[in-house]
Amino acid sequence: MTGEIITLQIGQCGNQVGKQFWSQLIKEHGIDKDGRSVVDEKFNGGSVREDDPTIFFRQNDSHRFTPRALMFDLEPSAIAGVQNTFPGLFNERNVWVSKEELGAGNTWSKGYDYGLENQEEFINMIDKEIDATENFEGFQLLHSVAGGTGSGLGSNFLEALSDRYHKKIVTTYSVFPSSESEVVIQPYNTILTLRRLIENSDACVVFDNNALLNLATRVFRDRNTSYEQTNQLIASVLSSVTNSLRFPSYMYNSLPSIFSTVVPTADLHFLVPSFTPFTADFIPGVRDFKKSSAYDVVLDLFDKNNGMALRSNDTPVYLSIFDSIIGPVDQTDITRAILKSQQRIKFPQWSPTALHVNVGRKSIYNVTPDTDRVSGMMLANTSSVNALLQNACSSFDVLFQRGAFIHMYQNGKMFQNGVDEFVESREVVQSCIDQYFAAEQENFLDDVLIEDENMVGDVDGLDADGDNII
Ligand code: GTP
Repeated sequence: MTGEIITLQIGQCGNQVGKQFWSQLIKEHGIDKDGRSVVDEKFNGGSVREDDPTIFFRQNDSHRFTPRALMFDLEPSAIAGVQNTFPGLFNERNVWVSKEELGAGNTWSKGYDYGLENQEEFINMIDKEIDATENFEGFQLLHSVAGGTGSGLGSNFLEALSDRYHKKIVTTYSVFPSSESEVVIQPYNTILTLRRLIENSDACVVFDNNALLNLATRVFRDRNTSYEQTNQLIASVLSSVTNSLRFPSYMYNSLPSIFSTVVPTADLHFLVPSFTPFTADFIPGVRDFKKSSAYDVVLDLFDKNNGMALRSNDTPVYLSIFDSIIGPVDQTDITRAILKSQQRIKFPQWSPTALHVNVGRKSIYNVTPDTDRVSGMMLANTSSVNALLQNACSSFDVLFQRGAFIHMYQNGKMFQNGVDEFVESREVVQSCIDQYFAAEQENFLDDVLIEDENMVGDVDGLDADGDNII
């Protein structure tokens, strides 16, 4: 049985992205804005569902569905926006807004300290939600890495989750700031958060607002893009990643089975998403008149214009890829596309055939003019993510070398004995960048295997569950 997934939405960005995600999910599962199932009324009794809404929703006796979601913020407006859009859908007890309602003033340490001070309450809220599952599988955390709450409180959550629920998978959907970052200290927040994304998450799907804004301008044919639009793009990725869990199939029916295909070693777990075409199933009202076959879609996903994070170069090396192709698909198209991409795309020699494709299903409840069209989502583990990581590092270096704005963090508990945390976080990010460069080389796996052999706590040091006990 596929296990349940709990969504944690943190800060303004996390909650606004969450709003679009749930909007997509209720459409796909035939659920009204207030949680009532419309399946019974509209779809011939609908007693037997083909989908499985229980992965993401709790169901009560009167067939009402409640998202398995918890919302956290230090000021109330974003969460109020979610609640007003879906009155009665969410569990009120799963909402936490700080009493001061002042936000974290874009400062990581403020968000982080709120996490420390309220950790018991947060863990209690999460535990209660876990109590309502039968086979709890893991978390997905939505946040931005630049705002004080999404980054600082988000970082604290990541530490707490890996500490307390270390056998459960933790995935994140993390939004990086655009290059004209609105607030001067965002690079500090980003590096401090990246450390936790590297050390305390199992997979991290990265979006950057530059790429999202470019893509939104084209998809919506609108120069004045809004967060609502960029968030619809993100939500299309989020819902497609779990299509095979929510519309059960015999493959990719758990989060680990999806993410283990794209994470070759624990350190290399940054995933760059792409999506094309945005059909009306995902973005109502958007009309992309080009009709694509599954063959076109698989290949178009490699086009950098369809990506949601900027790349370092035009011929990136792909370590592994997971595609979710949704709609009426001719299987031979997929096979042809895989063969073609293996000729065209650069994979390292140690991972020559790492393109995994799930053919997903469209929801029969989400009836749109595009029901017969194919669309696709790609999660790529590629060394081109280094563009994003290096960008974050160089913006950080400019500030840190001058000691600029450090005083804004000095009241934080993490910084009471100095600024080592900044230095260490920067080093952790650098070592991840180095790993990605190393992964482009032929002998990468040999090095990894040798390192593993030399590791303290080898096989003898594993407990019965395979966890390292040293
Ligand atoms: P504080 O405001 O300091 O309490 O933290 P916060 O985490 O609530 O801030 P926020 O989530 O607004 O983070 C700021 C960063 O997120 C900036 O880079 C914004 O551009 C980006 N951002 C904020 N809201 C959204 C959103 O809805 N969508 C997208 N794509 N980016 C957003």
